[in-house]
Amino acid sequence: MSDPVFLRALRGETLERPPVWFMRQAGRYLPEYRALRAEAPDFIAFCLNPEMAAEATLQPLRRFGFDAAIIFADILLIPQALGQEVWFEAGEGPRLGAMPSPGHMAELAAGAGDHLGAVGRSLSLVREQLTPEKALIGFCGAPWTVATYMLDGEHRTIGKGERAQARTYAYADPKRVDATLDVLVEASARYLKMQADAGAQALQIFESWAEGMPDDLFERLVLAPHKALVARTRELGVTVPLIGFPRGSAALAERYAAEVPIDAVGLDTACPLEVGKRVQAIKPIQGALDPLLLRAGGAALDRRVDQLMEAWGQGPWVFNLGHGILPDVPISHVEQVLRRIGAQD
Ligand code: CP3
Repeated sequence: MSDPVFLRALRGETLERPPVWFMRQAGRYLPEYRALRAEAPDFIAFCLNPEMAAEATLQPLRRFGFDAAIIFADILLIPQALGQEVWFEAGEGPRLGAMPSPGHMAELAAGAGDHLGAVGRSLSLVREQLTPEKALIGFCGAPWTVATYMLDGEHRTIGKGERAQARTYAYADPKRVDATLDVLVEASARYLKMQADAGAQALQIFESWAEGMPDDLFERLVLAPHKALVARTRELGVTVPLIGFPRGSAALAERYAAEVPIDAVGLDTACPLEVGKRVQAIKPIQGALDPLLLRAGGAALDRRVDQLMEAWGQGPWVFNLGHGILPDVPISHVEQVLRRIGAQD
């Protein structure tokens, strides 16, 4: 039995068709997800219930036969492990309480993996039920992205693309922000190590808020913490491939690929095909169909899938969206994409 195609692509192989999975593939666009979700008292309890999380992880694989499963959890479990209150307001998204001091969080960072042992149990349950040709992905939020939620919690600017409040703090209170990033590097490395030990075969680092930064800030908030996180994760003994997803980094994605010792780079919706090719000359890539085109469907969807295949299919590439799937995407559109790339009959 050869390795899962997803892992072969991450190691740099060009395959006959790209392996495929979708960010947020477990979620509200699936009726079976909505039914399961209704059984949980709240979203965090759902994430920390291994049986329910394993079931949510497996639902999209049963329905579509994706090449990889991503563990059902959330990047905001880490602030909770560091002593910050996190909850989800229905229809509004995440809310966080006041951020504990960096000193207090630093004391909790080494225990972050143990604290989130429930996610490890979800991973083990999923691995038992997955067939060998399917890969299992673990993940964490990147330090800066998680920090934006932690720093912004009280200000309710969450959801705003430029992360105005957190970025202002990065300039105005650099000591506090850099100390927070250091704590997040340690906590995230421990969390990734726990996930790899529990059965994750690849790990993705979600930097959802890399957009709109001047390059000096990108160096400080994205490149440096990612380098530190990869180094620390390797130092802890993790050997599985690491995928970095610096969403919205535009032309800086090339620097990211060249400078961060990551195994593959996730590209976002706005990444031009030509830039993607240049990144692909450095590292295997993943991405980047527009989630809104997936929602729209029709002939335009087929055309863009063909364009992506034409542009990126000649090198190591994992087919994915440029950001998470939206809650109102018709299931038939997902099937249309899978048929078009030859991943489904
Ligand atoms: O991809 C998957 O299928 C695995 C599960 C997963 C979730 N969140 C489940 C989820 C993953 C990988 C994430 C990552 C995540 N979480 C990110 C990074 C990726 C991105 O989208 O940029 C971020 C920024 C978060 C934080 C977060 N979680 C927000 C802002 C929200 C609210 C917005 C929304 O879609 O409701 C969530 C909630 C969340 N995380 C849901 C799911 C399925 C929806 C909540 C629900 O079902 O009630």
